[in-house]
Amino acid sequence: MASIAIIGTGYVGLTTGACFSHLGHDVICADVDADKIARLQAGEIPIVEKGLDRLVDEGIRSGKLSFVLGAANASKDAEFHYLCVPTPQGDDGAADLSYLEAAAAEIASVLPNNSVVVNKSTVPVGSTRVVARVLGRSDVAVVSNPEFLREGTAVSDFLHPDRVVIGSGDQEAAIRVAALYARIAAPIMVTDPVSAETIKYASNAFLASKLSFVNAIATLCEAVGADVNDVVLGMGYDPRIGREFLRPGPGWGGSCFPKDTRALAKIAQDAGYDFHFLNEVLRVNDDQFDRTAQKLIDSVDGAAEGSHIVALGLTFKAGTDDLRDSPSIEVLKRVTAAGIRVKAYDPAVLADNNSLSRIYPELDIEIMPDPYSAAEGAASLAILTEWDEFAWLDFDKLAEIMIGRNIVDARNLLDPSVPRRRGFNYRGVGR
Ligand SMILES: NC(=O)c1ccc[n+]([C@@H]2O[C@H](COP(=O)([O-])OP(=O)(O)OC[C@H]3O[C@@H](n4cnc5c(N)ncnc54)[C@H](O)[C@@H]3O)[C@@H](O)[C@H]2O)c1
Repeated sequence: MASIAIIGTGYVGLTTGACFSHLGHDVICADVDADKIARLQAGEIPIVEKGLDRLVDEGIRSGKLSFVLGAANASKDAEFHYLCVPTPQGDDGAADLSYLEAAAAEIASVLPNNSVVVNKSTVPVGSTRVVARVLGRSDVAVVSNPEFLREGTAVSDFLHPDRVVIGSGDQEAAIRVAALYARIAAPIMVTDPVSAETIKYASNAFLASKLSFVNAIATLCEAVGADVNDVVLGMGYDPRIGREFLRPGPGWGGSCFPKDTRALAKIAQDAGYDFHFLNEVLRVNDDQFDRTAQKLIDSVDGAAEGSHIVALGLTFKAGTDDLRDSPSIEVLKRVTAAGIRVKAYDPAVLADNNSLSRIYPELDIEIMPDPYSAAEGAASLAILTEWDEFAWLDFDKLAEIMIGRNIVDARNLLDPSVPRRRGFNYRGVGR
């Protein structure tokens, strides 16, 4: 079993570290955030991710997983060094590599001879070379090993991946990284670093394109009177199309798709290819935010002065507490800009937690402890994130406490007949 340092203990780093320790490796996770490290050392999980608490607990108890402040403290005795730091969008749309370069610079002088630095952050084509240059260590190999996990199912995605992609010009280093996944049953693909980096961006941009496509089809369905649920069901039977990612919504978002799609468009532009298809994918998504916001704005038309909208769901998808680039927030920014008051409830965003105001200090909405206190006196109700519990709302109770009767279901989560039976007007997406 190998010794692994994880540099950057966020959604990807913590999942990678906990899963590698579960597979039997000795793992030290490092971060620059002292508060995060202290909480992890105390066994507290700073993010919502199914199954992660059990693996972290198991790792700490077995002595195979520990947490330290500062990358160099984790890297000085490890054989593998996984870079899992942020690569946010820079001003020009390209990925900002400053965190990656800083992390590489921090560990450069302490790396043991013959160790392997692995890039798990999503990085532009050519970044493996950038890391190698910053390290300046001819005895250390740099390998690309992009991550494909989805938040909400991160642990299961890591332990049961569709594929493991390894990009390296050094065959021995590639084999050593592949061996870390020996207990995982998945195809392992070894390619060159540039192709590995492109696989990651191309995969995310393709999925984003699929979502923009289905949202555009939903708009068409509304125009011609078709039901998008039946349309995608009928499409999905064709294995060339598939069923996954054919669900319309308020627009797509999250910490990866928007920045990765823009970054790929910029990579193409820098390489001399105008990938205008991706710009259109992004434009369709902005249109979808506008269209969803307009439905919410229309839903309070004629409502009494001072009444509000109930927004159910703030995170970018169910099963996570991640608010970064959340479609729900994109929609609510537009709704509040139209002068409409919003009271929101999300099971992963609590009123006494300042995560929302930290990321979106300008967003003026009130966080409520449950859907019903948010709905008291409301003109309309909107479902923006597909949390299961919103499928089981008590519409008898809502009819008693709301002053309006409009429901906007931006996730097509509800059976429309249920609220309609209680006298509500229901608007979904594409049906
Ligand atoms: N979140 C996802 O679903 C997902 C999936 C696949 C790939 N990725 C990619 O993985 C990378 C990380 O994403 P994330 O969502 O885990 O980010 P995150 O923001 O949750 O975590 C990154 C962590 O790195 C830490 N960090 C920054 N600089 C550091 C340094 N020098 N030393 C030690 N720690 C440092 C931060 O404090 C933070 O805790 C990004 O490139 C992202 O695009 C993310």
